[in-house]
Amino acid sequence: MKRIPETELMDEEDQARAYAEADFCEPNELFVRLFRQLCGDQSVPWKVLDLGCGPAEIALRLAESYPSAQVCAIDGAPAMLAFGHRALAQKPQLAGRVDLRCERLPSTALPREGYDAVVSNSLLHHLHDPRILWDTVRTCARPGAAVLVMDLMRPASPQDVDRLLAEYAADAPPVLRRDFRNSLFAAFSPDEVRQQIRLAGLDQLHVDLVSDRHLSVSGFLHPRNRSHAQPV
Ligand SMILES: C[S@@+](CC[C@H](N)C(=O)[O-])C[C@H]1O[C@@H](n2cnc3c(N)ncnc32)[C@H](O)[C@@H]1O
Repeated sequence: MKRIPETELMDEEDQARAYAEADFCEPNELFVRLFRQLCGDQSVPWKVLDLGCGPAEIALRLAESYPSAQVCAIDGAPAMLAFGHRALAQKPQLAGRVDLRCERLPSTALPREGYDAVVSNSLLHHLHDPRILWDTVRTCARPGAAVLVMDLMRPASPQDVDRLLAEYAADAPPVLRRDFRNSLFAAFSPDEVRQQIRLAGLDQLHVDLVSDRHLSVSGFLHPRNRSHAQPV
């Protein structure tokens, strides 16, 4: 099935609200579990960058799970970040360790090689040009950093899209159903993602299927970043 890109930023008030109020416990727990599998239970003072953080549930969960970590979480949509700020205000104990910033990728405002871990959930399929994510990972992660990107996979057919909608969004508000449907059509296939990371010179990362609708890209950068992408 051919990819149909969707709107990048989720900056409509009603879509941000529907997303922030939806129950994403299952994928968010899966994300934190995958991060823990990759990085362990270390109490080192990780500097973590979360790209396309939306309402920041994952950023807050990571900060809770890693009490020495500093988490910088960015999103280009003020409507989404407003829900992140509200969620953070509910957890004042995390206030000094979670920094929510309005930043649209590609961005030159993020520090080069500034992070021990770069993570992202469900941003990749929003990007019209996926190289933006992989370039940001290469630029912002320090040599040897951990990387975890999770995203939807594009189903094989419109019938499979309908099946996933029925299974995971049957009772969701119409705006959330619309966005989930658009996201499934906009998502990349595992082979497309493998090709993206190869072209980005990030072939030390590996692609795994982690649920019936999600893939992950994870691993550690080489101790010294390569400055250029691999030739095709
Ligand atoms: C589906 S949400 C995922 C939110 C969050 N990571 C989560 O797992 O709940 C995708 C987010 O990426 C943001 N986004 C899309 N394109 C972006 C870009 N170019 N720069 C920054 N954020 C972007 C959207 O505004 C939206 O909040």
